[in-house]
Amino acid sequence: MSFFCFKLTKKLSKNRILAPIIQNKLKIKNMKVTVVGAGAVGASCAEYIAIKNFAAEVVLLDIKEGYAEGKAMDLMQTASLNGFDTKITGSTSDYSKTANSDVCVITSGIPRKPGMTREELIGINAGIVKMVAASLIEHSPNTIIIVVSNPMDTMTYLVHKTTGLPKNKIIGMGGALDSARFKYRLAEALGAPISDIDGMVIGGHSDKGMVPLTRLATRNSVPVSEFISKERLDQVMQDTKVGGATLTGLLGTSAWYAPGAAVSGMVQAIACDTKKIFPCSSLLEGEYGLNDLCIGVPVVLGKNGIESIVEINLTDAEKAHMQESAEGVSKTNDLLEL
Ligand code: 2OP
Repeated sequence: MSFFCFKLTKKLSKNRILAPIIQNKLKIKNMKVTVVGAGAVGASCAEYIAIKNFAAEVVLLDIKEGYAEGKAMDLMQTASLNGFDTKITGSTSDYSKTANSDVCVITSGIPRKPGMTREELIGINAGIVKMVAASLIEHSPNTIIIVVSNPMDTMTYLVHKTTGLPKNKIIGMGGALDSARFKYRLAEALGAPISDIDGMVIGGHSDKGMVPLTRLATRNSVPVSEFISKERLDQVMQDTKVGGATLTGLLGTSAWYAPGAAVSGMVQAIACDTKKIFPCSSLLEGEYGLNDLCIGVPVVLGKNGIESIVEINLTDAEKAHMQESAEGVSKTNDLLEL
């Protein structure tokens, strides 16, 4: 691009009307992402977003003095090594630094310890998530919020109930992570490369509530049931459901690499308007016969967040599993003081 064109584009891209048109046409990287919580999950999310290099800026925010600034600086010092030009900055509780974020990821709150369920975190995390969401939309009223904090489906529901953001702009991350664990377990059971495996987990992001869709899982378009027995498939389903708890038992705290990678993939789908399908916790208003709760269902993700909810035909057994999962999520929702 000649220097004159560059100067003209730069000038025009400041123009409120023309900027979106130009940026869209020239695919100028202009996405600003905020990640609240600079702990292991938040920092991993920021790192993967940066390495994928689709965002202009990532703001990492934490309440611990200097912590987010330190993680941001450490991550920026990998830029020349990992080849990205995304700008990562850190802030200690100064939400003004998050202003005009296109997407905000909420990872703040406490992680579970070995033997705990995600639902047991509600007492502490609900207050944190409510405050964080309110602070975010004060500075980014049009943002899309992705909730990671647990119990995630209930925290996603809380954000709906307390922010008034349109329902397509509030997305819970659980199914993308659970599906990655499902594919890991399937590849292990089949002795197959993970790149050959496809599979999806819907339902609640909880040890009992997940619904791995074993019927639809494939190895390069061949149903996995053609490769392994029902007993082995049931074991894969069970191992998937407790995938988070298994890692918490090994690590002494919640996992972070796969959660960070899962949410970065969702941010990328929004930023690049890919229209890819992800299982995400979404507010249901009759879909799947369910109402007034957030639970994992297949959705199309794009620049508007949830572009659409995909209603797939479920077997009676899968419907019953989904219904049971929804009852569990609603029970946790009832613990909220709304
Ligand atoms: C997990 O399953 C943190 O809920 C997340 O690892």
